[in-house]
Amino acid sequence: MRLWLLLAVASAVFGQNDLIPRDAAAVEAGRRIYMGSCSGCHGATGEGSQGPSLLSGRAGRLADRALLNAIAKGVPGTSMPDFPMGAEKVAQVAAFVRSLTAPAIRTQTPGDPERGRQLFFGTAGCAGCHMILGAGGHPGPDLSNVGADRTVPQLREAVTRPSARIAEGYRAVKAVLRDGRTVEGVARNHNNYSLHVLDKAGKLHLLQASALTAMEWRDSSIMPPAAGEDAVHLIAFLARQSTRPAGGVP
Ligand code: HEC
Ligand code: HEC
Repeated sequence: MRLWLLLAVASAVFGQNDLIPRDAAAVEAGRRIYMGSCSGCHGATGEGSQGPSLLSGRAGRLADRALLNAIAKGVPGTSMPDFPMGAEKVAQVAAFVRSLTAPAIRTQTPGDPERGRQLFFGTAGCAGCHMILGAGGHPGPDLSNVGADRTVPQLREAVTRPSARIAEGYRAVKAVLRDGRTVEGVARNHNNYSLHVLDKAGKLHLLQASALTAMEWRDSSIMPPAAGEDAVHLIAFLARQSTRPAGGVP
C-alpha cells in the first residue's frame, strides 16, 4: 500500500516529463507537421505572427500535458484551432515546439562535435576570440556554458548571422583619441566619463571621455560568420558545452 502510494506520487511528479519525446526523429517528424499546420500562425521558428510567439511567455511555461491538450483540443474562444490528428502526431509536434526553447545540450543536433572542436580551435579561428574552459582568447564572450544557456536556433543564428543580434556588452566601436590614435574593439563598459574597449588582441583599453575626439558605433558584429558544413559541426560542438555534468542539467 505504502509502496503503491509512493509510486503514484513519484509518477505524478516525475512522469510529466515523459509525455513528450526528445529524440531527433520525433522532433523532425514534428517539424514537418508544424511547418504545414502551425507556422502560418506561429512563424517558421516559433517567433509568432498571427498567433503568439512560442518562444517566450505562456507557451514555454506550459506543463507537458497542457501543451499536448492545447494542440489536440485548441484554445476555446481563440483562433487556436484543435488538431485531432492522433496522440502520436500531437506528441511529435509538441516535441518540436519544446525543441524551440530547450537548452541546446538537451536536444540532439546533426553534425560531428569532434569535427566542430577541431574547427573551433583550428582553422575556423573561433578560439582567437572565445574561451572555453580557460582555453582560447578574447574579446568574444566565454562559451564554456553556451550549450546550457542557449537553444539550437539561438546558436545557429549566433554562428551564421552574428550581426542579427549583438550580445549585451559587445557592441563594436572605434574610438579616436586626441593624439590621433584609434582603438577598435568591443565596448565592455561605457558611461559619460569613460569607455572600456576590449580589442581583437584581447587587450583592455581604459579611455577617459575627455581624451576622445570621436566614437563610431558599428551596427555589425566584429565576429565573422560561419557557413555550410562547418557551421553544422561548430553548432554540434557548441551545443555540448556545459559547465555542469550532462546529467545534472535540469
Ligand atoms: C489560425 C491560427 C493558428 C494556428 C493554425 C495554430 N495556432 Fe496555436 N495559437 C493561436 C492563437 C491565436 C493562440 C493564443 C490563444 C490564446 O489567446 O490563449 C495560440 C496558442 C497556442 C499555444 C499556447 C496555448 C496556451 O494555452 O497558451 C500553443 C502551444 C500553440 N498555439 C501551438 C500550436 C501548434 C503546435 C499548432 C499547429 C499544430 C498551432 N498552434 C496552430 C493560433 C494558431
Ligand atoms: C573577431 C572575434 C571573433 C571571432 C573570430 C569569433 N567570434 Fe563569436 N563572438 C564575438 C563577439 C564580440 C561576440 C558577441 C557579440 C555578438 O553577439 O556578435 C560573439 C558571439 C558569439 C556567440 C554568441 C554567444 C552568446 O552567448 O550568445 C557564439 C555562439 C559565437 N560567437 C561563436 C563563434 C564561433 C563558432 C566562431 C568561429 C567560427 C566565432 N564565434 C568567432 C567575437 C568573435
